[in-house]
Amino acid sequence: MFEKLRKEVPMLLQRLDLESDLRLKQVCELLKNTVPHYDWVGFYFKNGDKEELKLGPYAGSPTDHTVIPFGKGICGQVAVSNKNFVVPDVKAQDNYIACSITVKAEIVVPLFINGENIGQIDIDSNTPNPFTEEDERFLEFVNEEVAKMLRSKLPLNC
Ligand code: SME
Repeated sequence: MFEKLRKEVPMLLQRLDLESDLRLKQVCELLKNTVPHYDWVGFYFKNGDKEELKLGPYAGSPTDHTVIPFGKGICGQVAVSNKNFVVPDVKAQDNYIACSITVKAEIVVPLFINGENIGQIDIDSNTPNPFTEEDERFLEFVNEEVAKMLRSKLPLNC
């Protein structure tokens, strides 16, 4: 499953006929529809110069949490730590922002451009304790591919 996705995700991200936000949305849909334990898939990005994350493209139920201050919730903690955060059981977390009562577990992997943490991919799962190192390596790969696409859209001196 992840092997096939490792081929499909870069192909989608290189679709020059689609706006970059639409490419990211289609990546979210592809992941959500292919991986049985991915029930909500979305990207958050740093909101300009502010110390907060803003929701970007996503697949799954709409969420009220479109802006998350740095440090708050799993996402806000990853914005500060620059490290993957795997949550096998969301009930065991104090600093957690609940989006839906069906969610049992979450994984957040930061997205770097030129070494700077500019956002993250966030996955919610309705399955308890579903994430392994395979998910972490795969999501790091997805973010590297997204970073390549976003870098190609920056002015040449960035
Ligand atoms: N649960 C996240 C909030 C975002 S939703 O999962 C879409 C958190 O604790 O940061």
